Amino acid sequence: MISRDSIEEVRSRVDIVDVISDFVSLKKSGQNFKALSPFNNEKTPSFYVVPAKGIFKDFSSGKGGDSFTFIMEHEKVSYIEAVRFLAKKYGVELKEDKESNEFAAEQSEREGLYILMNFAKDYYKEILQAHEEGRGIGLSYFRERGFTDKTIQKFELGYAIEGWTNFSSEAIQKGYNKELLEKTGLVVKKEDGSTYDRFRGRVIFPVHNMSGKVIAFGARMMGKDKNQPKYINSPETDIYHKSDVLYGLFQAKNAIRQHNNCYLVEGYTDVISMHQADVENVVASSGTALTEEQIKLMRRFTENVTVLFDGDSAGIKAALRGIDLILKGGLNVRVALFPDGEDPDSYSRKVGTAEFQDFLKHSTKDFISFKADLFSAESAADPIRKAESIKEIVNSIALIPDPVKRSVYIQETSNLLKMPEQVLLSELNKLLVQERRKNEKDKLKEVEPPEEGRAAIEEIAPIKLDGNAIVQLQERETIRLLLNYADKNLSAEDQQEVQSLGNYMLHELDDVEFTNPVLKSIFLEFKEGLNNQVIHDTNYFLQHGSDAMKRMVADLITHRYNTSAHWGDKFHIYIPKEIELLNKMAYTNVLRLKFRIIQKMMEDNLKDLKVIEASGDLDKLEKSIDMQMGLKQAERDLASILGIVVSK
Ligand code: UTP
Ligand code: MN
Repeated sequence: MISRDSIEEVRSRVDIVDVISDFVSLKKSGQNFKALSPFNNEKTPSFYVVPAKGIFKDFSSGKGGDSFTFIMEHEKVSYIEAVRFLAKKYGVELKEDKESNEFAAEQSEREGLYILMNFAKDYYKEILQAHEEGRGIGLSYFRERGFTDKTIQKFELGYAIEGWTNFSSEAIQKGYNKELLEKTGLVVKKEDGSTYDRFRGRVIFPVHNMSGKVIAFGARMMGKDKNQPKYINSPETDIYHKSDVLYGLFQAKNAIRQHNNCYLVEGYTDVISMHQADVENVVASSGTALTEEQIKLMRRFTENVTVLFDGDSAGIKAALRGIDLILKGGLNVRVALFPDGEDPDSYSRKVGTAEFQDFLKHSTKDFISFKADLFSAESAADPIRKAESIKEIVNSIALIPDPVKRSVYIQETSNLLKMPEQVLLSELNKLLVQERRKNEKDKLKEVEPPEEGRAAIEEIAPIKLDGNAIVQLQERETIRLLLNYADKNLSAEDQQEVQSLGNYMLHELDDVEFTNPVLKSIFLEFKEGLNNQVIHDTNYFLQHGSDAMKRMVADLITHRYNTSAHWGDKFHIYIPKEIELLNKMAYTNVLRLKFRIIQKMMEDNLKDLKVIEASGDLDKLEKSIDMQMGLKQAERDLASILGIVVSK
């Protein structure tokens, strides 16, 4: 039999996108990926992969599951064969439970560590409840902090009495051997070979792994002896790697899933006090600065993290670092800072459950507002500082792996700081290019890729969009607006009379030639519909459109759905609902499309100009220059309405 640890090892290595990409060509769609179903013949993709959850779902066949299920279904193999398959792919050496004696020993040693840790946990718990010193000092300490009996049970809190060998004597008497005691770190060995208990005269906070087994302890001192550390923690062992553990995750798992959000705090007592304030979706990084592994752990349960730190300068620093790391891990991050000197524990006790929950609800900001406020408070009206704070924000945005999210955040920043989007975008692009260059260099340093490999790198490298691509983006946006809102009425204030968005946009763009053929055909259908007093909608295209049109329409709706579900519905504080902004969106889209087309025309004209210049045809040259100047003027006019900075 393959050992459970080995299977876990495989599970922790697999990346579902990577696994499925071996068989299906996946296309990014917002957060997720989609493709044509490998199980059915279909024309429009209905096969989805959700990397954040490690699952796939095939709507055409109804199949779904994790990487193992996918291999079982796709390769028509048993579970064990799927495990072997993936182990091979990821170079995991599978250990058989009965393969070798040595392995069996190792296996039973880990098992032994768990058993001893569990024994110790029960021992400390018992002392807290039944021993005179435990009750008199430990339990009354917890009571004083307001911990209820329910809480004490839930977190399995305990107490270690004063004295050097109380615990070890008890353990040895119960048959646990000395070696194991050292391996768990519960006892410490001195140079002369004698041993003593690590935890003495302290309250005990067991640390659980995700399945609820105790893997370490944190022990808080009583009183205020300045010469001692406040907490003594278990050392790293075979079963405890502190950078891979989040305190409270076991108790928080379900609540995190349920609320689709995870609060991140600093300490043991913050986690516990928040549970008492009925906020159970909370974990602590406990003693280590937040790590990538810890972020991956949260990501298994949600995409949304709210960082809760103390408002002092150390807290702010930790929050800033945390934000960037979380963004880089592909998660959404919000922040709430407590008043100076307060942490979640002290604050929840000070103001009580209702007010505390209210605080979380109303003082949580997205990271952009958080950073903007932080730096604007610092810099007041200093333009140089303002520029720095914008850089700070864009730096963070550049860390986000998903381009759709990046652009949403750029828009948000632009609104908030009253900065033209274009300026922020060019700053962002600079950073992205730098980052990509750096990565490429690193990659090239690692291995000189063969010819074809280099071509592949080149292909993804350019991110500067040419005029054509930008025009097409605006065209996509035009069609997206039409598909979603063509029949919605624009409000009368801005328009002379009430008219639908479709009506307005189609008239405004009457003379525009779309460059993308599929978008163009959709646009023309819309126009023709309007001539016959019909406003088409998504269904019309999904039923009557060509395959290419159907695909485009599906793409535009899924994309829209992804962004809206996230930014619109979950965090409605971020972005006003699109529907409320229709007037403005229709108006700016029309202007932008025209603006981009003008820029594209200038680009083309400039090329012509050079050719004409070389040919020496002065008549033509003059016309061309006139045209360029006319275009430039139009560009400037439009730009000033749109608030875009244009080069002179
Ligand atoms: P705190 O000092 O904020 O601890 O450190 P706390 O848990 O809130 O405890 P109280 O409220 O003062 O009783 C935050 C975390 O840093 C780690 C612990 O994990 C703690 O929960 N820490 C702190 C240590 O590991 N060792 C220390 O000496 C201090
Ligand atoms: Mn505290």
